[in-house]
Amino acid sequence: MNSSSHSKIVSFILLTSAMVVLLFFFMRPNEFRLRSMSTSSPSSLTSFMAPVTPKPDFRLLIGVLTVPDSYERRHLVRHAYALQSNLAGPSQIDIRFVFCNLTNEEQRVLIAMEILLYDDIIILNCTENMNDGKTYTYFSSVRHKFDENPYDYVMKTDDDAYFRLDKLGESLRGLPREDVYYGFGTPCDKPGAQWRYMSGMGYILSWDLVEWIASSEKAREHRVGIEDLTTGSWLREGGRGRNWFDMRPAMYDYPDGPPLCYRHELVADTIGVHKLKTNLKWARTLKYFNVTAGLKPSKLYHID
Ligand SMILES: *[C@@H]1O[C@H](CO)[C@@H](O)[C@H](O)[C@H]1NC(C)=O
Ligand SMILES: *[C@@H]1O[C@H](CO)[C@@H](O)[C@H](O)[C@H]1NC(C)=O
Ligand SMILES: *[C@@H]1O[C@H](CO)[C@@H](O)[C@H](O)[C@H]1NC(C)=O
Repeated sequence: MNSSSHSKIVSFILLTSAMVVLLFFFMRPNEFRLRSMSTSSPSSLTSFMAPVTPKPDFRLLIGVLTVPDSYERRHLVRHAYALQSNLAGPSQIDIRFVFCNLTNEEQRVLIAMEILLYDDIIILNCTENMNDGKTYTYFSSVRHKFDENPYDYVMKTDDDAYFRLDKLGESLRGLPREDVYYGFGTPCDKPGAQWRYMSGMGYILSWDLVEWIASSEKAREHRVGIEDLTTGSWLREGGRGRNWFDMRPAMYDYPDGPPLCYRHELVADTIGVHKLKTNLKWARTLKYFNVTAGLKPSKLYHID
């Protein structure tokens, strides 16, 4: 065979394969899309994702630490984030509810239903506790559970805090991916103090710090204590978290008292609001941020 007929055969094969791929793509475009999304669960708030750049600029896991029996609050928080699912921009932000072992018959059915419907729950191997090492268990379990597809950042927050995913995403976009400790620096009236830490209302660690905590003997031994202060002490003692990002005043407590360095009126440039301990506080906060503004009039209901 001479070289010209050889190259003709090669071109023919290449052309045919290209056509097969194209045909497949046109006939089953959903398959391509689904596969690129397959790492996230149905309810994950994957901002979707221009076809040209299928890879998100960063991936953030938000773990909302809660308890199994808080069905109503979980429902509310889930809705509040689901209504923002198109706001995460080019980032992937996954919200997961995190608690310890289930303890009764009722939970084993009701929570199984939630998982079937939303698939947004992580159950840790622990007994329910607040300051008894749950945060340590959270970070060290996440490190192993997502070993194969690690996040860039992992957040710990609670079910009395509301984060605005667009503002949160924007604020993270330009930041380093390593040695990051992000949140609300506490105490806020002593910015020079040596022992400051990020408030438990919601703080973010870069993945390298999550790995470090999971493998740190010191953290494992000192896992019991006020959770946010304890996380801060691991990092300080280990000389980690030097990329410290204090988001005050865009993170703050709900204003149900006189203004203080950690508490003020709701403002447009908010990243997160904390101390939403009642449905009414949630309602006022969500209304302020126009979360229900898109509701269309209908014969079927009247809201006012
Ligand atoms: C869960 O924790 C218990 C006690 O801390 C331990 O004995 C057990 O092996 C753990 N189970 C799993 C699945 O990790
Ligand atoms: C949690 O449940 C798992 C699985 O049933 C069990 O192996 C483990 O010992 C429990 N852990 C605790 C701390 O109770
Ligand atoms: C909510 O909507 C109103 C009316 O469009 C607007 O003036 C206000 O700035 C919005 N609030 C926020 C926090 O975006």
